[in-house]
Amino acid sequence: MKNAVIPVAGLGTRLLPATKSQPKEMLPVGRKPIVQYIVEELIQVGVKEILFVTGPGKTSLENHFDMNHELVQTLREKGKEEQLAELEFDRFHVQYYYTRQRQLLGLGHAVSCARSFVGSDPFVVALGDSIIGLNAQSDVVRRMEACFEEQDCAAVIAFEEVPRHEVSQYGIARPASDGEVFQLLDIIEKPALDEAPSNLAVAARYVFTPRIFAALDRTEPGKGGEIQLTDAIKLLIEEGEKVCGVRLQGERRYDIGNFESYFQAFVEFALADEKYGASLRDYIRSLNGA
Ligand code: UTP
Repeated sequence: MKNAVIPVAGLGTRLLPATKSQPKEMLPVGRKPIVQYIVEELIQVGVKEILFVTGPGKTSLENHFDMNHELVQTLREKGKEEQLAELEFDRFHVQYYYTRQRQLLGLGHAVSCARSFVGSDPFVVALGDSIIGLNAQSDVVRRMEACFEEQDCAAVIAFEEVPRHEVSQYGIARPASDGEVFQLLDIIEKPALDEAPSNLAVAARYVFTPRIFAALDRTEPGKGGEIQLTDAIKLLIEEGEKVCGVRLQGERRYDIGNFESYFQAFVEFALADEKYGASLRDYIRSLNGA
């Protein structure tokens, strides 16, 4: 799929004060900011054009994907080849676009800001605060694309099994069957534990036809006065469109929305670091023993 949209306009209030003056999507996990992993995942699956839906205070994100000629020049003059190699990502063959979500009216509203960028092609939505797979090693978007084409769906959504006590934090699937790929009968935003039809939680990646925009137009503001993407997907299903789910297989979703999962992601990525992972493991063991 050629086009992808990464919504990054949210305030990240659950990560205050870290996010007071820097975007949550730019917080580092291991060596890289979160959003760089997401871009790398999308490029691996063939995305060529990326639209960031941004807001005030997100310019560091734009700068990150821009060339910094002065920095490159300085590193080159000082012969710092290793550090120069770390900037390779800014030469990816991908075109970046930016638009602003001028009012924070929810994720559904952020997606609807991508309408003219998308045109008449299907597109991917990748949430700016969730990494899929350790070091973004995941081809789930490719698997979703295959499902999208084979089953002629209006939408395909990635799902991850979560512990039952966590279902009330996510959009939860009512799947028509077991298996890696399933048709979605319904999707319920943050259900109570006893009302959850499964423990399959929306996992931050979506493939849509542009028909999602008409559904978003018809979606009434839901929880917190926000236009929920889940409600628009529900509407598609109610109107008889085929919507499918694809399960994550082996890869985990690292949600950076709150400190607990952010800390877990950071530690896991740091432990996998080629250079410092082993010594960090020893260090953590030494703390446990203390
Ligand atoms: P979240 O709801 O987790 O992000 O949205 P948030 O609103 O920043 O978080 P809190 O609740 O205040 O801590 C998931 C993704 O969707 C984007 C966010 O930037 C995040 O990457 N988003 C959310 C938007 O772009 N616009 C919105 O109106 C809401």
